[in-house]
Amino acid sequence: MSQEIETRGALFTDTVSQKTKDSPTRNLVIVDKPSVKSLSLKRVLNKVILGDALQVLKKMPEESVDCVFVDPPYFLQLPKKQLKRWNVKTDVEGVDDEWDKFASFDEYDEFIRNLLTGVRRVMKPSATVWVIATYHSIFRIGKIMQDIGYWMLNDVVWLKTNPMPNWLGVRFTNATETLVFAVKDKTAKKYTFKKEWAREFGVGKVGANVWVLPLCNGKERLKGDDGKKLHSTQKPVELLKRVILTSTNEGDVILDPVAGAGTTGYVAQALDRKFVMIEVNARYVEGIKCRFAEALPVTVEGHSSKARKRHAGYSELETIG
Ligand SMILES: C[S@@+](CC[C@H](N)C(=O)[O-])C[C@H]1O[C@@H](n2cnc3c(N)ncnc32)[C@H](O)[C@@H]1O
Repeated sequence: MSQEIETRGALFTDTVSQKTKDSPTRNLVIVDKPSVKSLSLKRVLNKVILGDALQVLKKMPEESVDCVFVDPPYFLQLPKKQLKRWNVKTDVEGVDDEWDKFASFDEYDEFIRNLLTGVRRVMKPSATVWVIATYHSIFRIGKIMQDIGYWMLNDVVWLKTNPMPNWLGVRFTNATETLVFAVKDKTAKKYTFKKEWAREFGVGKVGANVWVLPLCNGKERLKGDDGKKLHSTQKPVELLKRVILTSTNEGDVILDPVAGAGTTGYVAQALDRKFVMIEVNARYVEGIKCRFAEALPVTVEGHSSKARKRHAGYSELETIG
């Protein structure tokens, strides 16, 4: 039996749980249905929920998660025509997915407002939230966050070492994304911030709020059955590792309401955190299942032994205000 649920710009079925019944990850996915009125934390812990985040968030218990990573649609507004590289005349693989299309800024803003309002309800008073986007939408998102009541702590600039080349030379090469790091409101206290990790990851002696790392590529990039990228905007494991190590403790619950290829939960599990992921597209959820069926190669290796020693067992809380 196949349950069909219509959502904004997407139609999905519960074929995921049918197709991989015998797989070791068969209990990883929950399919949300209109008949499901509430979802306890126990029910959604370490699960991927196939469903519309705007609906699923309303069913989750309030004040239940410690940290949220949100990588929403960018609303890139690419022109309809295929972009060509001017020198070699091959196609540029932009983000032209249905999930990134909105009729107008108003429609996009409404989606972001609803999503971030839903997220805020399920955040514990001491929880932190990370929202990532490019210049196309980060300024709108920032305004909406402040309007809703979030309190900004920082932004972190992700400087990509392998950005898309600047084809036409009519503006700066776009090699950055911005992560907003915030708490639920101005009164939030005792949120988790690991300053040693922050210093380790940031640039320069002061450990500034700039992270230099490449886009997700090579073996890490998930492929679909057609051999092409499964997800056009899969985030690098290293990025999520930095988010999780700087702002959570082992055992914390990390929510990703727009999970894509599931990078957040994948890294959370590897670092002994718990996760809740929501994704509307069944194809991506199937990809997450495959991803979780394999060993997790995420470690804190790659950082200096001095730093590793310094971070061992480190769990300091800081307060604001
Ligand atoms: C920018 S991508 C996230 C990529 C992800 N961080 C990763 O590493 O793969 C945004 C995702 O939001 C999903 N999405 C869009 N609208 C949604 C909704 N209403 N509920 C749940 N997921 C949604 C899209 O299907 C897409 O996979």
